This record gives sequence, C-alpha cells and structure tokens, in this order.
Amino acid sequence: MDKMLAGKTAIITGAARGIGAATATLFAREGARLVLTDLDQQPLAETASALSAAGAEVITLAGDVTDPDFPRTTLELAEKAFGTPDILVNNAGFTWDAIFHKMEQKQWDAILAVHLTAVFRMMQTIGGAMREKAKLETEENTPPPARKIVNISSISGTDGNPGQANYSAAKAGVIGLTKTVAKEWGRFNIYVNAVAFGWIDTRLTRDRAQNESVQLGDEKISLGIPQEMLQMAKYVIALGRAGNVDEAAGAILFLASPLSNYVSAQTLLVDGGR
Ligand SMILES: NC(=O)c1ccc[n+]([C@@H]2O[C@H](COP(=O)([O-])OP(=O)(O)OC[C@H]3O[C@@H](n4cnc5c(N)ncnc54)[C@H](O)[C@@H]3O)[C@@H](O)[C@H]2O)c1
Repeated sequence: MDKMLAGKTAIITGAARGIGAATATLFAREGARLVLTDLDQQPLAETASALSAAGAEVITLAGDVTDPDFPRTTLELAEKAFGTPDILVNNAGFTWDAIFHKMEQKQWDAILAVHLTAVFRMMQTIGGAMREKAKLETEENTPPPARKIVNISSISGTDGNPGQANYSAAKAGVIGLTKTVAKEWGRFNIYVNAVAFGWIDTRLTRDRAQNESVQLGDEKISLGIPQEMLQMAKYVIALGRAGNVDEAAGAILFLASPLSNYVSAQTLLVDGGR
C-alpha cells in the first residue's frame, strides 16, 4: 500500500516528546516530510535525529509557540525546506492546574496563551499560507489538494474537569475555533478538525510525585496528577486503562490523512469510552 502522507509536509508543535513525538514517528512512517517544533531543544533534537536515522526528512525549530513571531519563523523555515505545508498539528501545551477560587491570573493567561491564542496565530499564519496557495491553484485551474489542520483538544474542554478551569476554557475554545475555520476554509479544500483526548499516558498525566515540570520564564510549573486520581481510571474508562501515545497518534494520523477526506469541522473523542 502507498504511504498515506507521501510527498506531504507536516508541521507538528510540541513534537519533542509525548503525543507530538509519537505523531511525528507515525507521520514519518507514512512518508511525511517533517517540521518539528518544541520549547525544549534537547529532546526535540533527539526525537528528530532518531527519525532522520530511520530515513525521514526532518527539520526542527526550538522555540516558544506563544511568541508572536513563532508562526512566521516556522512557516519561513518550512517553505524554504519543503514548500507550502500540507498539514499542521497544533499539539504543544501543558497544564497549570488549581481549583477555581484559587486560580491566579497568571495561570489563566499562560494556559489560554499556549492552548488557544497560539493556535489562533499558527492557524492564521500557516493555514493562511495554505489558503493562499489553494487560491492560486484554483486560479490556475488546478484543484487544490487536501490540506489538513488538526488541533489537539481535551475532554476537559468538552466536559469540564475540576482544577482545570483555565485548560477547559482553552480546550473548549479551540473546538469553536476549529469548527469556524473549517466552515470558512472548506472551499479551499482545507480540512480543520480537533481531537479531544481523554487520559493518555504522558508526563502530563503521570503521578505528580515523579516531579515533572515545565519552565516558563522564572516559573517552574509542576506537571502530573495525584496518585488517587490515577487509581480511579479503571472505573471511569470503559477500556479500563489510559491510552498510549501511539494510540493517540493514530487518531491524529486519521485526521491528517486521506482516510478522512470527507471529515471536517469535527471533534474526535479519543478517550477509551470514558
Ligand atoms: N496526555 C493527556 O492525557 C492529554 C489529554 C488531553 C489533551 N492532551 C493534549 O495533548 C497535547 C500534547 O500533550 P502531551 O500529553 O503529549 O504532553 P507532553 O508534555 O508529553 O508534550 C507536550 C510538548 O509540548 C511542548 N510545549 C509545551 N509548551 C510549549 C510552548 N509554549 N511552546 C512550544 N512547545 C511547548 C513541551 O515541551 C512538550 O514537549 C497537549 O495539547 C495536551 O494538552 C493531552
């Protein structure tokens, strides 16, 4: 069978580890050329060099997706290396939880910035380049190929989750953004969908005692969830377990590939039947 992403250029944010790295690996296996970005240079370089060693065409950009210049820099790099991007996966992010009455403004601002405003900017700049290219192709009587944007949401966004008012609001916002842009850009053959994950086993959802963190300026933000909540999973998830990153990447590949060529403006719930 032909590789599903042969000849396609995919930009993936937050690709150093977790769901983003697994998506990069799966996309590479399906023949995509990759532009991988992340805040953390070292793990990003490691992910990219493993993929290059396996024969993939990969370039990387380390930087903060909330920097207003980041989308333009990413686009320029991608265009120079591979031409107009075909696929954009907005995946980068982290959590900064607190119960609502104790949530600080800085927690709200940081989480809205990374999970919503950055996605808006990436879509406007990189999706905007896809739209321009499709317009030109149409003017030249060439039907534009399918181009795909996949935004990563969460069941915190669809259902709410105690301790995550900031994250829930941002992940709900990204669903509205996804559906609206899908309706504006369908005529350019640009597909826009979201994946709302439930519990996927990454550093965001492991035992808090493992002391994983994100460094944001001077702020060290702890990641993970309390051990007691992890114990509840087998009762509230139909499949009785967390998903793994390869299973998560499969859903993203579906929405990035020709398998979903009549699917747009949707939110795919990938939560093990929670
Ligand atoms: N793990 C889950 O259960 C789960 C559930 C629902 C949604 N999600 C979403 O999936 C996405 C990936 O999360 P993950 O679980 O793989 O976590 P992860 O921590 O393993 O990976 C996220 C990556 O994003 C990068 N990142 C964070 N902030 C960034 C920034 N400002 N600029 C650039 N890169 C940045 C991190 O460095 C990291 O490499 C996130 O959007 C997350 O909210 C995860």
